[in-house]
Amino acid sequence: MIRPLILFLFLTSFPVHAAVPKMDTFITQLMAKMTLEEKIGQMEQYTAEMAVTGNSIKGDYRDEIIKGRVGSILNAHGAKFTRELQKIAVENTRLKIPLIFGYDVIHGFKTIFPIPLGESSSWDLKLMEKSARLAANEAAAEGVHWTFAPMVDIARDPRWGRIAEGAGEDPWLGSRIAEARVRGFQGDVPGAQDRVLACVKHFAAYGAPIAGRDYNSVDMSERELRETYLPPYAAAINAGAATVMTSFNDIAGVPSTANEWLLTDLLRRQWKFKGFVVTDYTAVNELIQHGVAADEKQATQLAVRAGVDLEMQGGLFTKNVPALIKEHKLNRALIDKSVRRILEAKYKLGLFNDPYRFSDEQRAQPIVMARDKMEHAREVARRSIVLLKNSRSLLPLKRASTIALIGPFVDNQRDVIGNWSAAGDWKKAVSLAVGINAARAGQGKIVTAQGAELVDSKGSTDALINEAVTKAKNADVVVLALGEPEWMSGEAASRTRVRVPENQQALLRALHATGKPIVLVLFNGRPLALELENEMADAIVETWFLGTQSGHAIADVLFGDYNPAGKLTVTFPVNEGQIPIYYATKLTGRPFNAKSKYTSKYLDASNEPLFPFGWGLSYTNFTYSSVQLSRDRLRPGQKLKVSVTVTNSGARDGEETVQFYIHDLVASVSRPVKQLRSFAKIFLKKGESREVAFELSLEDLKFYNQAMKWTTEPGRFKVMAGGNSRDLKEASFTLIN
Ligand code: NOJ
Repeated sequence: MIRPLILFLFLTSFPVHAAVPKMDTFITQLMAKMTLEEKIGQMEQYTAEMAVTGNSIKGDYRDEIIKGRVGSILNAHGAKFTRELQKIAVENTRLKIPLIFGYDVIHGFKTIFPIPLGESSSWDLKLMEKSARLAANEAAAEGVHWTFAPMVDIARDPRWGRIAEGAGEDPWLGSRIAEARVRGFQGDVPGAQDRVLACVKHFAAYGAPIAGRDYNSVDMSERELRETYLPPYAAAINAGAATVMTSFNDIAGVPSTANEWLLTDLLRRQWKFKGFVVTDYTAVNELIQHGVAADEKQATQLAVRAGVDLEMQGGLFTKNVPALIKEHKLNRALIDKSVRRILEAKYKLGLFNDPYRFSDEQRAQPIVMARDKMEHAREVARRSIVLLKNSRSLLPLKRASTIALIGPFVDNQRDVIGNWSAAGDWKKAVSLAVGINAARAGQGKIVTAQGAELVDSKGSTDALINEAVTKAKNADVVVLALGEPEWMSGEAASRTRVRVPENQQALLRALHATGKPIVLVLFNGRPLALELENEMADAIVETWFLGTQSGHAIADVLFGDYNPAGKLTVTFPVNEGQIPIYYATKLTGRPFNAKSKYTSKYLDASNEPLFPFGWGLSYTNFTYSSVQLSRDRLRPGQKLKVSVTVTNSGARDGEETVQFYIHDLVASVSRPVKQLRSFAKIFLKKGESREVAFELSLEDLKFYNQAMKWTTEPGRFKVMAGGNSRDLKEASFTLIN
């Protein structure tokens, strides 16, 4: 029995590369056979017809494959289609080098999970890892090798529509989520047949465009860049992300795609990144529009020199690299390095062994939209919901009541799967009406009305509102489903007014005038300014865009079959004038003081957000003890145990996210008033108490000091614990070093 077992273990540990020699030797031998043109071909990527996020400029991409001038295709998916394209590469080209297929698998492939910002509200790293794993599972079965995710851009400006794709405003939490998503997509070792390669994007600081306008310039201090914006990219790379995508923006005038400091000094020398760098869509060409390259040739030179390995959709490398080498404006060695990195990825994916490894229709069939995916889709969706407000415990709803279900999202299936919904089929999504009807199980009564269009384009507002008001008057409670259509968030979807569209607000006003209690169910891809909604609705349920199982997940929460536990990962402003608004702010020399005019504040609005970072209610209550510290002096090498006892003091079992923050009171540079350093999710039965602790070490206290050194400085620190970033208990200790 032993021998076959050893043989079996041997074979299963080398299943991918059994027929080809070891990677380095194999690639060296292959590259020795490649012409310069064939090498440059590996550095080109073109889109298939299926989906495009810019101007498609290469209708003849199939001819390019035949000529050996393409290394990768994006937007091609489906076992059959990818097989067809792969066949062109491996049967027609001289060296038969397989293509690598990349696609935006952002929050699911066919089964759609909540948008990433929504999912981050679960604060559940295992759950997010699982979403990425299941998305990878489906995508890999449909011929996709590589996803352009996770997007880990920190975003503190809700005007920017791509805030929907990230994990919110906090670098520490964003880093943990980035790691979880990379692990989920890739698994332990990149290349498994049921996973995809990850691509951390958009490097760097794409989430901080000036004025929240997509693609706009970024300009910030080096400290802000290093402390707030870079950590999630670094965390994703440490977690093994195989590839990195450059961002469209410039930072202080230098576009990322031409930024040698960013792509080579930082990424490769300091962070030791070993994978390959792809540009964003036509980002090399755009160096001309940025005004840093006079023509396509110079754009190519800048990008390759900076450290770009693969060009997405631009087609400039093929045109310009040979001449640039001839004129000694580019070094051949750079090209060789890039080609090697790309071939390594293909090797790790096992494509040299079997180019069709991921393109097998029979394998796909039982995997895609299978039961495990659907169950997870419901679970992750309900865990992403944030209960923002619940006056007089209006929620959960009583099944026996008459509910007026009103709003343009009641029967909506398209928008609930959100933007960037990959190959997801919205017709398979569960609408709110379907979810609520299933959950009430024949009890009570539901009346529905559209009430408003998504946006006021058809001019039928009054008639719709009147119908809704009549129905509301005969109901016990109004469940009002309002929000942004999905196209208002995502790429190229910045807004200056981050509100529920006006025609929908008119509906809210009219329903409020009926005096009926209102439960507002919100659908949106960004934090919204909810001043009016907070005034007029008795309960507010933030559901983002929850994906395929949306309606069931919302019904689970509305009827109390699931006790909501989501917490915001991004601050909700009172109004747009407060933007950017985030919890980790600094004190200023004149901190807010209501009694003193000459302090940092607005004349017409509070400094406080409507809903702070970390906020989210439950159908039960949690109370916090004072914060206990295991010592009041901390020395290098020591750990400090920070603990707090949390009690479920309400009437239901429930889950709480216990958050720990620090504040360095005096340092050589002013430090944020709060910085998240740990959290724990705990489930407590009603009446139950539990101690929650975290071990704080020197690492948690480090920052870039005045000399830009990553270090700690001795002195007093505050440590805080609570259920959101505003309502916290605190204690303090001294760091001695
Ligand atoms: C442009 C987007 O910025 C990027 O996130 C995406 O991966 C590419 N297009 C490919 O679709």
